[in-house]
Amino acid sequence: MSNVLLIHSSVFGEKSQSLGLARDFLERYPHRSVVERALSPQTMPHLDGETFVAMRTAAGERTGPQEAAVALSDELIAELEAADTIVLAVPMYNFSIPSTLKAWIDHVARAGRTFRYSEKGPEGLLKGKKVFVLVARGGAYKAGSPAAAFDFQEPYLRAVLGFLGLDDVTFIHLEQLAMGQDTATANRAKALAEIERLTDGVVAVAA
Ligand SMILES: Cc1cc2nc3c(=O)[nH]c(=O)nc-3n(C[C@H](O)[C@H](O)[C@H](O)COP(=O)(O)O)c2cc1C
Repeated sequence: MSNVLLIHSSVFGEKSQSLGLARDFLERYPHRSVVERALSPQTMPHLDGETFVAMRTAAGERTGPQEAAVALSDELIAELEAADTIVLAVPMYNFSIPSTLKAWIDHVARAGRTFRYSEKGPEGLLKGKKVFVLVARGGAYKAGSPAAAFDFQEPYLRAVLGFLGLDDVTFIHLEQLAMGQDTATANRAKALAEIERLTDGVVAVAA
């Protein structure tokens, strides 16, 4: 049974479509525990220069203020390392991911901890974990749709997660939420059917 890390980043809080889908997923995905990170401008600061320098400084060589600056990055990386399964609830905002999720990525992509440079190039260090990404979008961006080239959400996430070693990634799409109530309702049912297919209809029992 998995230890799950749930990361969500919608400005709509519990009314979020992507978070609702992630909760539907977790109701069906067998797991032992869930650690939840709600990303907002209040909880997830942008990376600044002091923090970045502290992140690049070896643990034994940091000043007191540098230790304080790196504490959040340490905590976020520890959550990632402890999880077997990572569930990302991701809204599409302006063709990409919310800036709070980008700030989270800037805090967890750390050389020597989550990736390293070797003779063969960069190597991701977060291995053997499953990732499920539940995306919600107002429009339609799947391959073949006219706006497919505007999807900077899924390709970016696949690239950066892969860079960190997370290459077992499954996307579940909830699209066309802004294209009328009937379409939104039908697509919610499709996304739920996809979740049930992926989880084999198993109802999760938290231990
Ligand atoms: C600031 C903002 C920007 C958005 N940009 C896009 C966009 O570029 N493409 C799109 O299809 N939908 C866009 N939407 C619609 C959202 O993707 C849609 O509302 C979705 O439900 C968001 O997921 P959430 O409910 O989990 O926040 C945007 C919504 C907001 C609030």
